[in-house]
Amino acid sequence: MTLEPFLLERIQSKWEHIVDINLTESGVLPLSIRELVPDENELTEMLRTPLGYSQTNGTMLLREAIADMYPGATAENILVTNGGAEANFLTIWNLLSESDRQNQVIMMQPNYNQINGITTAFGGVVRPYYLEMHHDKWVPDIESLKEQVSKETLVITICNPNNPTGTIIGSDYLQAVAEIAGDYGAWILSDEVYQGAEMNGVLTPSMFGQYEKAIVTNSLSKAYGLPGLRLGWIVTPEKDHAESLWSYSDYTTICPSIISDRLATIALQPEKRKELLARATTIVRASWSLMEGWLNDHDDIFDYVAPMAASICFPKHNLPLSSLELVERLRKEKSLLIAPGEYFGMEKHLRIGFGYSEEHLIGGLSIIDEMISNLI
Ligand SMILES: Cc1ncc(COP(=O)(O)O)c(C=O)c1O
Repeated sequence: MTLEPFLLERIQSKWEHIVDINLTESGVLPLSIRELVPDENELTEMLRTPLGYSQTNGTMLLREAIADMYPGATAENILVTNGGAEANFLTIWNLLSESDRQNQVIMMQPNYNQINGITTAFGGVVRPYYLEMHHDKWVPDIESLKEQVSKETLVITICNPNNPTGTIIGSDYLQAVAEIAGDYGAWILSDEVYQGAEMNGVLTPSMFGQYEKAIVTNSLSKAYGLPGLRLGWIVTPEKDHAESLWSYSDYTTICPSIISDRLATIALQPEKRKELLARATTIVRASWSLMEGWLNDHDDIFDYVAPMAASICFPKHNLPLSSLELVERLRKEKSLLIAPGEYFGMEKHLRIGFGYSEEHLIGGLSIIDEMISNLI
């Protein structure tokens, strides 16, 4: 097994809690437990939870709350995981291990580069298809997808809304991807962790149910502002498959934390969920307006496509150094962290997270200003 370093996670793991200003987060400002559970009685009740092992595939109450978000699914279609990261890991590991012959994973790029690392580690083959710029929008290049699929194709992956571009893939494109997957009997794995953090407040439709072999991963880490719960899930159309995935999680984390399971059940009750997602939209809109103002003030340096969801943007710069060099200089000289485009396979781009408090974001951008003024 050869494990490629997961460069984005490596730089975040090493530096996000060390630098003075971190602008690498892609979700919205996290909530405290008290903000999530403001009712004193409910909070006290929650604090009485014995810290035992939880139901390992997620409690029935939580799996039912998750299933309610996916028409056609029941609790038996759900596996609760430790974040979207474990959800993706288990899905790819399981599909590759259970497949007799197909071993190709066709992966949308640019992307959060987890699935490609896992695929190669487990002996699979990764083939990219690309989002390309079309009339100031990122859209999947369906032709490049058609060129990559073959009878060896096991799964086509989608990241919608997309990291790092923040784009939402239109239903016509999703339909085209589903048709191609259908022609080859391939699975689709749709990573939807940014669902709910849309600028226009309209929930991105899930791929679940839009194609008979669509598996969805999601988590509370981004739109819900609860990454510290490490709570994610897989929704799979086949109950037997959920059972099979569950048996793989016996080897990874066994179960979600019991406290996370309880808090997630609270977060996903319909009224609470609505409240949390409205909060996400308020944050992404307000902070994008600051971020966009800053990018526009530097339109001689940055070119960008406005994100439609998630608190990340992916501008292209024309500064006289690579993004990696710029990121390293910002970290070392200014104690500020952003992510280089190279970690998403795109040089001269930067991924800047903006879902922070106004003070934090303005402070961070003014530090980038100081660096830029020394470079031009
Ligand atoms: C597209 C995507 N999927 C999955 C993850 C993992 O998220 P988590 O494990 O916190 O749910 C991330 C994290 O940034 C992501 O961007």
